[in-house]
Amino acid sequence: MSSFKFIDLFCGIGGFHLGAVQNGGECVFACDIDQDVRRAYHANFGLDPKGDITHISGSDIPDHDMLCAGFPCQPFSIIGNRRGFSDIRGTLFFDIARIIQAKKPKFAVLENVKQLATHDQGRTLKIILETLKSMGYSTYWKILNALDYGLPQKRERLIIVCFREYADFSFPPKETSYKPLLDILEKDVDEGHYASDRIVNKRKETHKSNYPLAIWHENKGGHISSYPFSCALRAAASYNYLLVNGERRLTPRELLRLQGFPDVFKIVCNDNRTRKQAGNAVPVPIISKVIREVLNASRTKRGKESNRAAS
Ligand SMILES: C[S@@+](CC[C@H](N)C(=O)[O-])C[C@H]1O[C@@H](n2cnc3c(N)ncnc32)[C@H](O)[C@@H]1O
Repeated sequence: MSSFKFIDLFCGIGGFHLGAVQNGGECVFACDIDQDVRRAYHANFGLDPKGDITHISGSDIPDHDMLCAGFPCQPFSIIGNRRGFSDIRGTLFFDIARIIQAKKPKFAVLENVKQLATHDQGRTLKIILETLKSMGYSTYWKILNALDYGLPQKRERLIIVCFREYADFSFPPKETSYKPLLDILEKDVDEGHYASDRIVNKRKETHKSNYPLAIWHENKGGHISSYPFSCALRAAASYNYLLVNGERRLTPRELLRLQGFPDVFKIVCNDNRTRKQAGNAVPVPIISKVIREVLNASRTKRGKESNRAAS
């Protein structure tokens, strides 16, 4: 395992942090505007994230090999109709670009919702990629689903990987199985998480699941579907939309497990905030496996260079 220094921008509760550390990474800087998130990050990683990225200059950030950023999926309309690096000023992607420009890390790994790929008919992503290329980076992007990387959650995320020097990179191959729900669910769940008999019966009258153990997804219109995995957790979603067998809501620990956070992760905020934080997080196995491939690609490149030098 190689060691490398990374920074964690828009760190949340540390999905990137966990994925990078699993590959030998050492975090030298993190930031997030949300005070509760910073508290959780500190309790778990012993590091005090800084605040609003728009107030942080490149010179405040230590040198690092890898920049990680799961930037907020804010509206990209400002980028939409315009072109070029200066035109994306005002979006938080600009702050990432500004820091890459100042610090020139070897690698960057960025994450966002999959809709970024099609936003403004693909123009937004094109401008992001062109901006990264204009700073000398080769870029790769792909939509990855947590279900394909071992988690029982259908969560599709757009991942962009950038190399300061050319590297022969491939995204990690899909896996054939994911953790069964049984491994995610807690055994003793507080009664407060259960719906009343009346509501459970009503749900069971409207929906018959094909699976003995399933996460039921109830949409705003009351339509229920159920699968042996969860649909994507969402930070702002109603507490009631994901239900174990139609009977109870998921606990904060179960939500964190669905994102691949280990049980040693300390929950220091209340249930409401932890639900939001888990809903915002990046699935740890996706990031861990992407970072592993980034490091492999850079090693392969070094190998090829020394072969060339020797021949
Ligand atoms: C999609 S979440 C990232 C979650 C993170 N990757 C994780 O695994 O938990 C985006 C984060 O950006 C933070 N954020 C939003 N605006 C920010 C700003 N101006 N400066 C720093 N952080 C910001 C939010 O508080 C939120 O935690």
